[in-house]
Amino acid sequence: MQRIFSGIQPSGVPTLGNYLGAIRNWVALQTDHECLWCVVDLHAITVWQDPAQLRRQTREMAATLIACGIDPARHILFPQSAVPAHARLAWIFNCVARLGWLNRMTQFKDKAGKDREAASAGLYVYPNLMAADIHAYHATRVPVGDDQKQHLELANDIAQKFNHDYEVSYFPVIEPLILGPAARVMSLRDGSRKMSKSDPSDQSRINLNDDADTIALKIRRAKTDPEPLPDDPAALDARPEARNLVGIYAALSGQTAAQVLAIHGGQGFGAFKQALTDLLVGCIEPIGQQAQRLLTDTAALDAILRDGAARARAIAEPIVDEAERLVGFLKV
Ligand code: TYM
Repeated sequence: MQRIFSGIQPSGVPTLGNYLGAIRNWVALQTDHECLWCVVDLHAITVWQDPAQLRRQTREMAATLIACGIDPARHILFPQSAVPAHARLAWIFNCVARLGWLNRMTQFKDKAGKDREAASAGLYVYPNLMAADIHAYHATRVPVGDDQKQHLELANDIAQKFNHDYEVSYFPVIEPLILGPAARVMSLRDGSRKMSKSDPSDQSRINLNDDADTIALKIRRAKTDPEPLPDDPAALDARPEARNLVGIYAALSGQTAAQVLAIHGGQGFGAFKQALTDLLVGCIEPIGQQAQRLLTDTAALDAILRDGAARARAIAEPIVDEAERLVGFLKV
């Protein structure tokens, strides 16, 4: 059975983008893989996080993942900071990765913005920590949304250079799993930007704890264009907002864009948005309600995460111990 690792930052409430691009696929992959699901708090602090809010958001993320169908009993759900092996291996990878490789990372450029001098050093080496997350478990498959593809390519480059430099074949090649018709869900306000939990505008996204009225309002206000929906999916290429809504509808209804347009093509957005709202509410409202129930017992939630962390440590520690021996650390 192949081992899967994936992570999500507790930097806000998870969005529909996280759900369709990642979490929903994670749930399906649990049937025939050994899975580690990590709430990556070390990654979150690469940009400022209020401490009390970070703690709350870490629990909220764990509760939402469980509400979505992540199974912490058969698989492993844990906070990244509870397993020191991630940071230990990340340090070694900081010394393997080249500055030239990191300089090419588009996400750093996006997140650092214009004032790059003011970005944290952690934000710059963020992809090295991601590589360490995966390789600390010798995981071979990594389900993510489209935006993480470049980071996973770097994780393979780092592993290859480590293996080459130390003349071993210690870290395996990882296979990115970028699945489904909604691997890149866009903002509801701007079809050229991805939907993000850290976007300042709440109207740009559907949160997994939004209630039915909020979802309806956000979809009603979602940016569109004046044309009716086309009959042919190719005609969506020049219409990013329409393409995004059709993609969301397709993902939620288990159809292709062509099947969605066979029904809704020729219609204005009014009726389509209503049908989309119904689908979204049916999918998301139960998740938010279940997460809320789980959050009423934080002791039980913390116990789940503690147990997950202990099992994660048992896998990662010997792997990272051996990496340190290969590097030449004395390990007294
Ligand atoms: P994060 O927290 O930004 O997102 C978690 C997952 O959701 C996917 N995703 C999306 N998919 C489709 N459309 C969107 N608009 C959208 N927004 C987010 C992301 O691709 C991701 O799969 N660096 C990672 C977390 C991480 C990680 C790892 C992932 C840390 N270590 C190791 C895999 C393996 C991140 O910031 O994800």
